[in-house]
Amino acid sequence: MKLLVTGGAGYIGSHTVLELLQAGHEVVVLDNLCNSSLESLRRVQAIAGRSLLFVEGDIRNRTLLDQLFAQHQIDAVVHFAGLKAVGESVRKPLDYYASNMAGTLTLCQAMADAEVFRLVFSSSATVYGDPARVPASEESPVTNPSSPYGRSKLMVEQLLQDLQCSDARWSIGILRYFNPVGAHSSGLIGEDPLGLPNNLLPYLSQVAIGKLDCLQVYGNDYPTPDGTCVRDYIHVVDLALGHLRALQFISSRRGCEVWNLGAGKGYSVLQVISAFEQASGRTVRYVFGPRRAGDIAANWAEPSKAACELGWKAERSLANMMADTWRWQSMNPQGYR
Ligand code: NAD
Ligand code: UFG
Repeated sequence: MKLLVTGGAGYIGSHTVLELLQAGHEVVVLDNLCNSSLESLRRVQAIAGRSLLFVEGDIRNRTLLDQLFAQHQIDAVVHFAGLKAVGESVRKPLDYYASNMAGTLTLCQAMADAEVFRLVFSSSATVYGDPARVPASEESPVTNPSSPYGRSKLMVEQLLQDLQCSDARWSIGILRYFNPVGAHSSGLIGEDPLGLPNNLLPYLSQVAIGKLDCLQVYGNDYPTPDGTCVRDYIHVVDLALGHLRALQFISSRRGCEVWNLGAGKGYSVLQVISAFEQASGRTVRYVFGPRRAGDIAANWAEPSKAACELGWKAERSLANMMADTWRWQSMNPQGYR
């Protein structure tokens, strides 16, 4: 297939583009590079031994999208582009609704006009808010995400459901990611946050490499076995492979389906630190701090819908996720720079 991958230079996008190229697909990446560097795609092409077409631009640029769809016979769109920092979304809601919500709207309008009706969309477990029951299944309520970021994802999910209801030619896969971590086993591509990392694994690995002094564990008084928050960590390569399965599925039938992409198993922050120390052979300095606003005690996925319908499940263990994170961090102490 010929695929348009928006946000393909980013963390999850670059790993997915690699798997798509290795599976023989043709790839056009559209990315404005606001949170990524072209170096990721240079390395993706080197690993795959195949090239892709890169277009620098914004998903809100309708003229550019129309040109892209006119120039290329696109079979499906894999849509990663968007902003993703929960805390920043509270301070800059307009940016988040503009990029995530209005951006997806513009993309869908351009797709409809170009008669490209297959779309895989990056949603998030954040749409479950603080779930009344874990594991969260696709049927769990999604009424109360705790940030503008989460609400932008939920609005897009609703937009896509409405779109498919209005026109049966659409075939849409909504993927709710849990906590993507890890890196490609080559150590050549990985997560490269700009500035101070927000997320656990990039922070942890920058402490281990000596770039940051000490990890703050946000809260040890949660109602969990060791008092720290529990999350469902999923290896980014497993996640990338989930997109290939979703593409296969939406190419064979119409509709709008939602799938959780998680491992179906929760680990606490302390368990992650311990697994990382084992994988890296380094001691990670940490202190307990107050809870982070908006954090929930625990969430992990009920992943059986993806297993049944997509034939997909996460294969890579926590030890594997930690080893691959450490390989990427130690081979690239300055990320792609
Ligand atoms: P990322 O920031 O590494 O990748 C996003 C990419 O989109 C970047 O390359 C960025 O430059 C590009 N981009 C952003 N806004 C754009 C725009 N308006 N036009 C064109 N390009 C634009 O993030 P990621 O971790 O790879 O996440 C990819 C997707 O998955 C996002 O939609 C994110 O919300 C979603 N997601 C991520 C996580 C996570 O923890 N990483 C969890 C759940 C969902
Ligand atoms: N944590 C720390 N110290 C840190 C960073 C994180 O203790 O420096 C803790 C958090 O409190 C949380 C856990 O580590 O308990 C994981 O935190 P992350 O920030 O890595 O991930 P979140 O679960 O908060 O959020 C992630 C993505 C969101 C996505 C959500 C649900 O960042 O975009 O998973 O999929 F919406």
